[in-house]
Amino acid sequence: MTLQHRTALVTGAASGIGRATALRLAGDDFTVALLDLDRAGLSRTRILIEKQGGTAHEVPLDLRRAEEVAAAVDTTVSLLGSPDVLVNVAGVGVAANVLETSDSDWDLVLGVNLTGPFFMTRAVLPHMISDGAGVIVNIASVGGQVGLARRAAYCASKAGLVGLTRAVAVDHAKEGVRCVAICPGTVETEWIDKILSDAPDPGAARAAMAARQLDGRLGTPEEVAALVAFVAGDQGRFINGAALTVDGGMTAA
Ligand SMILES: NC(=O)c1ccc[n+]([C@@H]2O[C@H](COP(=O)([O-])OP(=O)(O)OC[C@H]3O[C@@H](n4cnc5c(N)ncnc54)[C@H](O)[C@@H]3O)[C@@H](O)[C@H]2O)c1
Repeated sequence: MTLQHRTALVTGAASGIGRATALRLAGDDFTVALLDLDRAGLSRTRILIEKQGGTAHEVPLDLRRAEEVAAAVDTTVSLLGSPDVLVNVAGVGVAANVLETSDSDWDLVLGVNLTGPFFMTRAVLPHMISDGAGVIVNIASVGGQVGLARRAAYCASKAGLVGLTRAVAVDHAKEGVRCVAICPGTVETEWIDKILSDAPDPGAARAAMAARQLDGRLGTPEEVAALVAFVAGDQGRFINGAALTVDGGMTAA
């Protein structure tokens, strides 16, 4: 089986964009390693993939811990073989400007959103280099391209992730590895549901969020997953070191 199927590692696979990406890649005939902190969410994603006829393995981990990341990648390689694709999706956000940001919130956001992808990339790259092929897709954000109000640590982490993407592309293109960032606007996931349900007027907050896109709606996780699949596949072979925006025109205005 592992000889016929390509292998993808997807972080943040328990929820939202990570779950949609794992489902999409499994549908495209990848065997998928599902990496996340949330064990119950990992099982839900695995069951969804199996229901659509795909194959997935749950690999729980905390991306902030280098030793857990190294062990998770070792486990995945021994189960599934060398990874063809890594998608770094897991992320967290804190609503705060610089003055409101605590040291622990800064560490959390930078740890998950930037150090996590660094640990994953460092663990996966030697396998891709020895195969002479591989694609790393980093889910950044429009917050990595423009400033968002009261998202200081988040914007810093995502701009850092775009920078890491370009550096990896430059360093490893000649070894057959591509690295691409995707910068979504507002996407309908559990994360956004939580922000909306915590708002004083959830309906008004949703309408304001939807109005930020030129077509007046939020994106879907499947729309981001479709771009991941294109970038990771052979049709995306000329895309490298880029930061691709998928935001319904939010940052065009
Ligand atoms: N939803 C949006 O509007 C939006 C917009 C732009 C970018 N993004 C980015 O897309 C990514 C996914 O967002 P989402 O909306 O699907 O969020 P989500 O909250 O639905 O999913 C995030 C996942 O990351 C996992 N995670 C968090 N900390 C972790 C850790 N330390 N180790 C392992 N896993 C951990 C969570 O358990 C969760 O399953 C994030 O990087 C986010 O910044 C989201």
